[in-house]
Amino acid sequence: MSDESGYPVLLIGLDGPSKAEVESLCEGALYTVIHDATEFEKAFESWQDGMFNAVFAGSEAGLPANELAQVLQNQCPETKKFFVATDPKVWEPRLLLKNGFNQCLQLPLDRSLLKEACLTYVITGEKKKRVYKGVRVLDLGEGDRLDFETYAFLPLNRKYIKLSAKGEGLTEKKLEKLAENQVGQVFVDQKDMAQFYQYTASKLRSLGAGAVSSTERQEKLRESVRGLFQDIFDSSVKGDFDHGKEMISQVEGIISSYVTKGATSQWYKKLLSSIGDTGDSYSHASNVSTVAALFAIGIGHPRPEDIAMAGLFHDLGLTELPVELQSIPEWEVKPELRELFYSHPERSMNRVKMKRIIVPPEVEKAILQHHEKWSGKGGPKGLPAGRISDDAMILSFADQFDYLTRLEEGKRHLSPLEAYEEIKRNGSINPEILAKIRRLLEKEASEGSHGSRAEKHS
Ligand SMILES: [Fe+2]
Ligand SMILES: [Fe+2]
Repeated sequence: MSDESGYPVLLIGLDGPSKAEVESLCEGALYTVIHDATEFEKAFESWQDGMFNAVFAGSEAGLPANELAQVLQNQCPETKKFFVATDPKVWEPRLLLKNGFNQCLQLPLDRSLLKEACLTYVITGEKKKRVYKGVRVLDLGEGDRLDFETYAFLPLNRKYIKLSAKGEGLTEKKLEKLAENQVGQVFVDQKDMAQFYQYTASKLRSLGAGAVSSTERQEKLRESVRGLFQDIFDSSVKGDFDHGKEMISQVEGIISSYVTKGATSQWYKKLLSSIGDTGDSYSHASNVSTVAALFAIGIGHPRPEDIAMAGLFHDLGLTELPVELQSIPEWEVKPELRELFYSHPERSMNRVKMKRIIVPPEVEKAILQHHEKWSGKGGPKGLPAGRISDDAMILSFADQFDYLTRLEEGKRHLSPLEAYEEIKRNGSINPEILAKIRRLLEKEASEGSHGSRAEKHS
């Protein structure tokens, strides 16, 4: 991120004279230097717009220049990217420009151009550059008043243009124009994300209010929730860790705004901090909470906020158990440790009470029963099918789902549908609830490209 102490600049595989030239022109810059392909592989996934004022790349890192261009273009489409080299034989400008570089400069011939680039983008560069977030605007309402500005990205000019100002909305004409130009995504300034979450959540709440039947309303809800799931998984299934994290945090923002009904008390945030979660990390509790609430909304559960709350607290008691039991799914627990493991739902509830948090009886039940199974083979009580609450079943599904689809640096374990099949196979969940959840993930299946296990992205 750019800060007060210098101008962040990324240098990749520049040859000696080029590097010296750039450094002499960019006084006061803070360099991140990539020397070879290994360093590049390690670092590129963390790059994004807003991190560097400019990128200067050359041919010395042993990376094919066109691929380099494409990766950079992917990671930071908005950042100015220059290819600089002293030997013109190493590159083909036309192709490089097409693949994402803004300019190809040959030294010493293009020294003045390089100087201009450094002056424009590094030194006087837009230091306080805005960061835009691509968002999904649910049923982006024609004429809806939006408390945030919206932008469209024009890939050809690599520019964001303002679509609507704060307090305005998108007119029919603008929406038509977007459709005409096949612009599928709208962008929001990062600082306006809270307003965006509130808008989307209230949209979600009022969705289908005017619908003729409850079936119609449910279908609309399902459609939206499906979209949110796709947002989370389309990116992260490709192993794009940062984007996946970004998407889940966006959905979390929407859901927390949904369950708090836009309340200013921010109880959801308070709850998060009460369990020691800062809300910006990729954690099991907040993930399960978000995903469980999303499932609940999507299948028409009347109290998604209860499910969200149960999700936050369900594993609090794990902290009292030996470390090796704290972050593994139930199926990895050794038989001799099972009983001890099954003591955590009750410990979770005790912790909730110790923190003087009052939860509805349904939430308590969901927490206590989140390891019970429809097959009767769960714990701690081994309750039979009919005695496990729906809330507990939804929570249990989301809990397992998070372990199975967990996103780790560079890979995702299973696709949402593979995870669904796995959970169905183990007989833990009420078949009725399973069928409803299946319909939420359907579209993901029909797109068909998420089939393979643990896709590596290296
Ligand atoms: Fe648990
Ligand atoms: Fe859990």
